[in-house]
Amino acid sequence: MMLVRINMRSALVALCVGVLLLTLFWSRCGELSHRPISSTIGSVLSNALSDRGGGEEIECLINGEYSVACRRDRDQVYLPFSFIQKYFEVYGKITSTDGVDRFEWSHSYSKIYHPKKKYDPRGTFTTFENYNVEVRERVKCISGIEGVPVSTQWEPRGFYYATQIAQFGLAHYSKNITEPEPRVRIMDDGEKVLGNWIVSKDATISREYDSELKANVLKFSTSELASSQVWLKVNITQDFVLSLNIMFKPNSSLTVVLQNKDKKETVYLHYVTSNQLIYAQDDHIYYGIGTETRWRRITRDLIIDMQKGWALQDRPKLKSPRNKFKISGLVVSGRGAVAGVRVSTSEHTAHFFAAAGWLVRAQRARGGWPVPARRHVAPGAADLRPGWHSAMSQGHGISVLARAYYRSGDSTYLRAAQRALLLLDVPSHAGGVKALWMDKYVWYEEYPTTPPLFVLNGFIYTLLGLYDLHVIEGENSISLAKKMFDDGMTSLKTLLPLFDTGSGSFYDLRHFTLGISPNLARWDYHATHVNQLYLLAGLDPDPILINTARRWEGYMQGKRAAHN
Ligand SMILES: *[C@@H]1O[C@H](CO)[C@@H](O)[C@H](O)[C@H]1NC(C)=O
Ligand SMILES: *[C@@H]1O[C@H](CO)[C@@H](O)[C@H](O)[C@H]1NC(C)=O
Ligand SMILES: *[C@@H]1O[C@H](CO)[C@@H](O)[C@H](O)[C@H]1NC(C)=O
Repeated sequence: MMLVRINMRSALVALCVGVLLLTLFWSRCGELSHRPISSTIGSVLSNALSDRGGGEEIECLINGEYSVACRRDRDQVYLPFSFIQKYFEVYGKITSTDGVDRFEWSHSYSKIYHPKKKYDPRGTFTTFENYNVEVRERVKCISGIEGVPVSTQWEPRGFYYATQIAQFGLAHYSKNITEPEPRVRIMDDGEKVLGNWIVSKDATISREYDSELKANVLKFSTSELASSQVWLKVNITQDFVLSLNIMFKPNSSLTVVLQNKDKKETVYLHYVTSNQLIYAQDDHIYYGIGTETRWRRITRDLIIDMQKGWALQDRPKLKSPRNKFKISGLVVSGRGAVAGVRVSTSEHTAHFFAAAGWLVRAQRARGGWPVPARRHVAPGAADLRPGWHSAMSQGHGISVLARAYYRSGDSTYLRAAQRALLLLDVPSHAGGVKALWMDKYVWYEEYPTTPPLFVLNGFIYTLLGLYDLHVIEGENSISLAKKMFDDGMTSLKTLLPLFDTGSGSFYDLRHFTLGISPNLARWDYHATHVNQLYLLAGLDPDPILINTARRWEGYMQGKRAAHN
């Protein structure tokens, strides 16, 4: 909350600077104001405008190229904001406080988070507690088998993209730290809370102690008939993250029944023993949970699962579904057992470890998470062919794995994090992600093109991964991560001035390496740069970091470098 308040203040400063610019002063044109508008249309228009107190119309000729209808009131000329907005790429809207309208102008649309304390790899990852990866449109759904997002960013059929999966993990890790404790409602724990399961005629249930799970479980068996079911009636509102242990034989399923309280609409989420990712038909949405017949725990955000099923059918996203729906039932069919059934506000730790687990399982021998989609990055650079690696995936992956090791003490995560370092030392042309600036300064490439691009934000995220691992490994180990971090920081501090445009920042250095026009960072990327530099300035006292962060933040409020 503190963070938000600080940003409101800097946003207001930006508005005040901006409003001054809105009124353009028209000097030395006094004689023009006495000349009558000659055309009939003009005078009709200008009378209409004057009636509303808007001055008379005047043509504004823009750079001798085209005209815009403006207004004149004595020696002031007013340009329409719709024109100014497009021409200068600024932002503004009319707001109303206590019945008083005012116009709020801002130079950029992004926020800066000033860190309150030194970055700690055991804590939140930068500002990721504000990320909601699963709601992004380019997330097709959360896999029923892996429990991690499936990306459609560069491939509509969907693929596992390590950067996105790691961001999902880091967001949930961070929310676990910043959010209030979730409300947990037990539906059936086999002991204190026993669900009142309803059993159809040709179905059976029994409660048994399971030695593997070391808990009482509910076994069920239904016949082939669709009417043969075992179900639990519930009435749960507000909380929608379901988790339970399951052990399903083939052809079994769990169905969650959701009801829209206003519209009397019913939605069925079916979790079925198949390997299909997602399939939806009207109000029936199917997620494959795999064919594994051993015990495992699944954790599902039911609202996300419903919205993704609708998106698949091009149905519009529902606003605030968490207030409109309730969980009204659970149905199991086939053969198997369930245990530890509960619903909570959130299950951040489970989502975080789903991401960490995927990173361990999907990691290849060289320590990488290859991207199976083709990627065109910049004109003049060859496309990245499926199987390319990204330093950003490596860095984010390391940030997740280092935290998973810290939380669990399981050295599998630590070893995977250390293995992920290897590709950072392999040149891009050899399938790695390393580039050199002027044959001297190492750069970890988010997109390992030839010639290299030197993308700034992905490089800094990689540095954070290195820092995370180094700190969590413990100071006394001889750390490859530490050496890679130090080398990277030297490159960053050397190259940082090249990213400064005098009024913003460059996203990458393609104008240098590819000889094409520069790629300016749009405001959200520029803000990412500033946030990253503030964070690094807390780790390294070199004044270039803090000075650049402050200057670049000023650019977001319309400040510019001086000219000669
Ligand atoms: C954070 O994770 C711990 C460990 O899993 C859990 O006990 C706690 O309730 C979680 N808190 C939040 C807000 O997610
Ligand atoms: C379900 O619970 C809500 C409050 O949580 C209550 O208002 C409603 O009457 C309940 N519905 C049924 C069918 O029990
Ligand atoms: C599962 O269902 C399919 C078709 O309904 C059937 O062909 C198959 O034999 C079933 N498998 C088992 C193990 O029951």
